[in-house]
Amino acid sequence: MRNRRKKPLDLTGLTIPTHIAIIMDGNGRWARRRGLPRQAGHRAGAENLRRIINACVEFGVKVLTIYAFSTENWGRPEKEVRGLMKIFARVLDQELDDLHRQGVCLHHLGDLTGVDPALQEKVRRALELTKNNDRLILNVAFNYGGRAEILHAVRQMLADGISPDELTEELFSSYLFTAGLPDPDLVIRTSGELRISNFLIWQAAYAEYYPTPQLWPDFSREDLYEAIVAYNQRERRFGLVPEEN
Ligand code: FPP
Repeated sequence: MRNRRKKPLDLTGLTIPTHIAIIMDGNGRWARRRGLPRQAGHRAGAENLRRIINACVEFGVKVLTIYAFSTENWGRPEKEVRGLMKIFARVLDQELDDLHRQGVCLHHLGDLTGVDPALQEKVRRALELTKNNDRLILNVAFNYGGRAEILHAVRQMLADGISPDELTEELFSSYLFTAGLPDPDLVIRTSGELRISNFLIWQAAYAEYYPTPQLWPDFSREDLYEAIVAYNQRERRFGLVPEEN
């Protein structure tokens, strides 16, 4: 798979979404269909993430946000949670230098409280090492929930003594984990599910939504290209009327 020659893809005339967000779903089903344990599906999902990061760099996407672990995912069986944490730690150990060389700037969306201190330390090191890179911003939503993010922002605003008159959408956005970044243009969800699952619920208010039946480990560079082509066929109206009216 890895050495397969890359098919040339024509990007001429395409608007590349500045910010793509992905709900990487279907690792478990991918594994079950092969008679493998769920952990094998998560490992395949992690390998695929590497391919999709490369494709984003190749296509000129500026911000990629991935939903790696939600606040609700702690409720999965303990063995699976432990397995996922191992994968996150291993990916940081094995891929960080490469991501840094590639010009990827890592951001974390979420709360590190309650996460294993050794993993917290790896995350902090990764953020520090890559903070000046600007080829691709990779937001990793880890121990993240959209509602929790909003409550976190409101608490901070109250603590800062923001008055009702001062509060604008821009100010509110500046208290979110994505402060300073553009909102997602395109949200992709793999595995055929049609839910937003508490992901970027403020930021994705006007994003184009692209559900695909592909399971995450199978979602390829070519599939990402297809999603971008579909995005180009949408008419983004932001609540307005079509242009010819
Ligand atoms: C959903 O599959 C996937 C997750 C719970 C996220 C984990 C993602 C990875 C391991 C990819 C790599 C990420 C990083 C940051 C290295 P699922 O288990 O919900 O699938 P199912 O719905 O088919 O059971």
